[in-house]
Amino acid sequence: MWTKRQLQGTMKESLSDYLLVVASNRQPYSHLVKSGRLTCVRQSGGLVTALDPVMQAVEGVWVAEGTSPHDRQVVDANGKVLLPPENPSYALRRIFLTKEERDGYYYGYSNEGLWPMAHVVYTRPVFRVEDWKQYQRVNERFAQTILDEVGDRKAFVWIQDYHLILVGQYLKAANRPNLITSFFWHIPWPNPEVFHICPQKKEILEALICYDLLGFQIRYHCDNFLAAVDANLESRIDRERNSVVFQNHETLVRPFPISVDFEGLSDISQSDLIRNRAEELREELGLKGKKVLIGVDRLDYTKGIPDKFRAVDRFLEKYPEYKEKIVLFQLGEISRIHISKYKELNDELNALAEEINWKHSQGSWLPIVFTRSYTPYQDILALYTLADACLVGSLHDGMNLVAKEFISSRTDADGVLILSYFTGAARELTDAILVNPYDTESFAEAIHQALAMPREEREKRMKKMREIVAQNNIFRWAGKVLSQLLKFDFQEA
Ligand code: F6P
Repeated sequence: MWTKRQLQGTMKESLSDYLLVVASNRQPYSHLVKSGRLTCVRQSGGLVTALDPVMQAVEGVWVAEGTSPHDRQVVDANGKVLLPPENPSYALRRIFLTKEERDGYYYGYSNEGLWPMAHVVYTRPVFRVEDWKQYQRVNERFAQTILDEVGDRKAFVWIQDYHLILVGQYLKAANRPNLITSFFWHIPWPNPEVFHICPQKKEILEALICYDLLGFQIRYHCDNFLAAVDANLESRIDRERNSVVFQNHETLVRPFPISVDFEGLSDISQSDLIRNRAEELREELGLKGKKVLIGVDRLDYTKGIPDKFRAVDRFLEKYPEYKEKIVLFQLGEISRIHISKYKELNDELNALAEEINWKHSQGSWLPIVFTRSYTPYQDILALYTLADACLVGSLHDGMNLVAKEFISSRTDADGVLILSYFTGAARELTDAILVNPYDTESFAEAIHQALAMPREEREKRMKKMREIVAQNNIFRWAGKVLSQLLKFDFQEA
């Protein structure tokens, strides 16, 4: 089994002569002032959950966008700050974007165009040529920053996610023989018919096959990508090697299902700190004596949060004996709120929670507690440990790491995972209760099944899922990608 120490050992030895540079849009930590004090806050989202422990293990430099005014104040003359604050082990190099760059590149092209296209949840993608220009510009800025950071050293550059597709192409154009490049696509890759709508489809494919190694969450996404290449580019696809050869350059295409730091999460979840916090939260939030369903999502229309609310509503209609006995505690961190679809979702959720709560309320009891306030990571872990079931209702999701975090936190081998079929995680976690979130009736039944499940069966299922996540942990994911990268030869200068 891969462990943090093993990754550290192997990579420190193998990477000792090289620099590792990771780049993503989202930074791992942001500096904010809270109650008059400068605080360093870990950011939400699967990418940070996965990569922060990896970077702590292998060190290196992480390039990402700085977003708060205080992010700017704490960096040194090279735009760098050491992280994590309590035990610095890697450097974050922040890039600061103008409002126009951010609007076009992040809100526009990445999140109004690529995001809905990749997820196919019936939200119309919007591709504006001005956004594409900003996208190109910002990707070029990331590439320049990486080149500046690397200098003449030999480096492995590992780009993350759909915001930064073009970086590899700009790096290649700089013609530096000292770089081996890799890209990991964290979200689903759609089928060729869906991808066909993208006005920049050729540019995107050509840019992606500039990387030496291209990773997706599951084989199905690799196959969709290869089908898109086949349909759009005059290249050669080598089915045996799972690679694309274009203009004498080969790109390996591989599935690498992402994960979490199972051991780290297990350890902290059984600490007194988290146990005591769970008891405090039970008291503070009025959860004593109730069956608790927990939901932890970014407020995103792909996460199926309204579908969860509707399932709870239907469950209470069918099983009124559970009134006053259950609570769905749904955390929803506000996300991409300048995009109208996200504002609409926020309004829809407020109205829906209010309507369902009004319909079923009795005395002071409300079935849905929906909170958007910032929740410290330790509180999220405490909530996982006290929950009777965790509900993941994504309509489409590359992996979904909430499912894997929940499992890692359950050292008591208790708690039930209700998991959407349409997540990458559902391919591994077949001992969850798998649901179609579009089907309210069966989703409601799944809640009933979870709450009625005998302890013995809960334990059996949870133990199996814990074994799987323990094996396929984040250090294995990183170890597999980095080992593959180490096999490439640097070009002769
Ligand atoms: O996994 C998809 C992703 O966009 C990640 O890149 C990111 O960390 C996460 O979702 C959160 O998204 P955002 O940074 O736009 O809030």
